[in-house]
Amino acid sequence: MSGNSILVLNGPNLSRLGKREPEIYGHQTLADINCGVAESFPDLTFEFFQSEHEGMLIEKLFECEDRGGFIGVILNAGALTHYSIALRDAISAVSLAVVEVHLSNIYAREEFRRSSVISEVCMGVISGFGANSYHLGVRALVGIAPRKKKISVAVREA
Ligand code: DQA
Repeated sequence: MSGNSILVLNGPNLSRLGKREPEIYGHQTLADINCGVAESFPDLTFEFFQSEHEGMLIEKLFECEDRGGFIGVILNAGALTHYSIALRDAISAVSLAVVEVHLSNIYAREEFRRSSVISEVCMGVISGFGANSYHLGVRALVGIAPRKKKISVAVREA
């Protein structure tokens, strides 16, 4: 493992958690979620970053890649999940392990949310467990980080 830091990166509209459609996203604010994550994993160091802007998220990924010392990234890209090729390219461009997380189950919602353009270049996806998606994401990252990037699974023909 190259460090013990994890970047928790949140995209557009996640700054409104707590007030925003609580029946879907819950009552916790982003600060509540971030504190919960930091408290649950006292041996890890977290960096939290949220932006409404695609380019800021991309720059943050590049910055963390350049600084080094990161186990990987927990990314809730919000709506960018569904259409941002620029964010997808940035994830591909860095050697950081990225776990895609969502509070809601995007596969149980509107049709346009059921596809993610970033999943393919992330290590995996955790969707539908509310704030716990972030906690599960951290557990997944700590388990997979040494393998970095995508795991190719060999499928044997019967
Ligand atoms: C979300 C799901 C997205 O479809 C939506 O645009 C969000 C939040 C989630 O965490 O469930 O902003 O990523």
